[in-house]
Amino acid sequence: MHEPKSILIRPARNILGSLRVPGDKSISHRYAMLAALAKGQSRFDNFAPGADCASTLACVRALGCQVERDESGAVIVDGMGAQLKEADGPLDCGNSGSTMRMLSGILAAQPFASELIGDESLSHRPMKRIIEPLTLMGAEILASSGDRAPLRISGKRLRGIQYRPPVASAQVKTSILFAGLLAEGKTTIEEPARTRDHGEIALRAFGAEVDTARNSASIRGGQELHPLEAYVPGDMSSAAFFMCAAAIYPESNLVIDGVLLNPTRSALLDVLAAMGTRTSMVRVEEQHGELVGTITLIPGNGGSITIEGAQTALLIDELPVLAAIAPYTAGGLEVRDAAELRVKECDRLSAVTHNLRAMGAQVEQTEDGWRIPGRQRLHGAQIETFSDHRIAMAFAVCALRAEGETVIPNAECVEISYPAFFDDLEKLIER
Ligand code: S3P
Repeated sequence: MHEPKSILIRPARNILGSLRVPGDKSISHRYAMLAALAKGQSRFDNFAPGADCASTLACVRALGCQVERDESGAVIVDGMGAQLKEADGPLDCGNSGSTMRMLSGILAAQPFASELIGDESLSHRPMKRIIEPLTLMGAEILASSGDRAPLRISGKRLRGIQYRPPVASAQVKTSILFAGLLAEGKTTIEEPARTRDHGEIALRAFGAEVDTARNSASIRGGQELHPLEAYVPGDMSSAAFFMCAAAIYPESNLVIDGVLLNPTRSALLDVLAAMGTRTSMVRVEEQHGELVGTITLIPGNGGSITIEGAQTALLIDELPVLAAIAPYTAGGLEVRDAAELRVKECDRLSAVTHNLRAMGAQVEQTEDGWRIPGRQRLHGAQIETFSDHRIAMAFAVCALRAEGETVIPNAECVEISYPAFFDDLEKLIER
């Protein structure tokens, strides 16, 4: 990560313009890992630029694959097939839960031992959710304090399982499916709620057969992967910051090109619609199983919103920015069943409450969500990012409609997912 950087956000009169957002982080991680397991050369344009996916690429390289960027910036991975090479030292996953959890599924099936380490934040995140199923499949995993990184994984010949995880997590589902690909027999995972399905779609794009129903996915072990050349669609969770910014200006006009429209990632459009902001989509097409298109936002005036139950899993990365704009909406926002927010890069439930209050907002924090009334006036403040990229970006958006200036220290944390975020935001601001 670069030097600590403070950013000053001044109020904006409007949000206007069009842009493309960087490649999707979830898809980039999965493409890089599956490219490592394919035999031959894969190439990805618009691969996610942040530090998280760089951690995945570094791990894949440490496991024996050649990884390069060509002159156009595309990522090229020379896959090794199902068997990787033992790394010389610990595999550093940085801040990335996706890297640690999904790669564990692959390492659990390798004929060698691996150690996975992470930064301070990642070393506090729960890993029991992958340790339990991978152990049931036959792997041996040792963790610090029972279920925290560093993880020491002794790879074994795995056997397929049928598994119902206690939490709805796409990282867990993908980890198990990756292990299932390398296991003997069939692996089935049945989730308590539907989560993003990029693991299933990416496996198919690399040539594997995956059976899916609404909340379940099955894979047969021993399938070989072929390499893939693909353009990674724009990240909806990055676009979300600009879409939420546009939603709080009645005269805004925002177009986002080439953005991921996978239904397991676009629930934000329904929430914005309920808040009064409609969207139109054009040039929608399927690319390697993923829906991609251009979105135009049409602002309006809507009512109060409640997000709960299965919807929270589909909006998990968008909840901080939705909460950050909620005070400016007509009807406010209530979020329930979102306790998972407490175990993200920081405790996002408390981080949002802390910063909203610092800006003078009224907010009630519950065990698993918030109640945030609408039609509030906020003032600029000093934000605390808790070194969490999505908290920094969410409050940059919140600051646009506050009175006075807002300071975001440690704003360099946006490099985790979106290094050019503040430049792109600036281009859309009318003052
Ligand atoms: C991700 C899934 C989500 C999300 C994370 C990326 C993925 O985590 O918060 O940013 O790529 O599968 P969980 O699956 O743990 O909810």
